[in-house]
Amino acid sequence: MVSFIHISDLHILEDPEATQYGVNCYYRLEGVIAEINALQPRPSFAIITGDLVSDGREGSYHRLKSLLHSLKVPVHFALGNHDSRRAFRQAFLNEASEEPLYTSFDHGDLHFVILDSLKEGKPTGEIDRDQLSWLRSDLDKNRAKPTLLFIHHQILPIRIRWLDELKLENPDDLLGALEEAGNVRWVFYGHVHQSRLWRYKGIFFASVPSTGFQVPDHSQTMMVTDDPPGFRLVEVWGKGLRTALKLLGSGLQPGPSFEALPIYIR
Ligand SMILES: [Fe+2]
Repeated sequence: MVSFIHISDLHILEDPEATQYGVNCYYRLEGVIAEINALQPRPSFAIITGDLVSDGREGSYHRLKSLLHSLKVPVHFALGNHDSRRAFRQAFLNEASEEPLYTSFDHGDLHFVILDSLKEGKPTGEIDRDQLSWLRSDLDKNRAKPTLLFIHHQILPIRIRWLDELKLENPDDLLGALEEAGNVRWVFYGHVHQSRLWRYKGIFFASVPSTGFQVPDHSQTMMVTDDPPGFRLVEVWGKGLRTALKLLGSGLQPGPSFEALPIYIR
């Protein structure tokens, strides 16, 4: 069995006392890290699906880097629309490069793919032609392995208009690649600052609340709340997957089985 943490939309700023929408994302992430560190057994790693910082500045990434030193599990990063490839690479990898940040790795019998949907300067996302062809080839090479895919932007609209205007610009290209490959069973994303779970064409889709501020799932007007931050604990064994949502101040809430998930109708 493999267990890992999915967190997203950290929105860190260089000034740890700064607030956004009345919320201090630095102290909230500190609280989330403490909860993750207390989990037993300890998960193997955490994957962050983007909006690591709010302003794409190198100083904000340095602040995040020092905060993540206290996290007792290794971290994998995806970038979101608030990120900057250049500043992230400089601060975390000591590289002067603006190359997209997509990658894949194996853990146990599972294959993990992390995409880069950042379209610099835009709130919407895109998987460009080069990344799509890399993805097709990566999925093809790993055809026999159950695969989990991580991306910042929502591929399928969540039916909140202002947020869906900021979604992935070319969802059909990506969904086509997933359908063709057939080995991606689970997709995890951020950007929407709320938890959504459903299945679509046999694939499990899950978003997660932000570790900072939240967007309610009931309002069509742009709204941000100080509802508690959270993360998702994911356990995978063979072809089965179990999730639990943890909101700070509450216990772990087990998610439904795959068969019990609502089916997404496009
Ligand atoms: Fe965000």
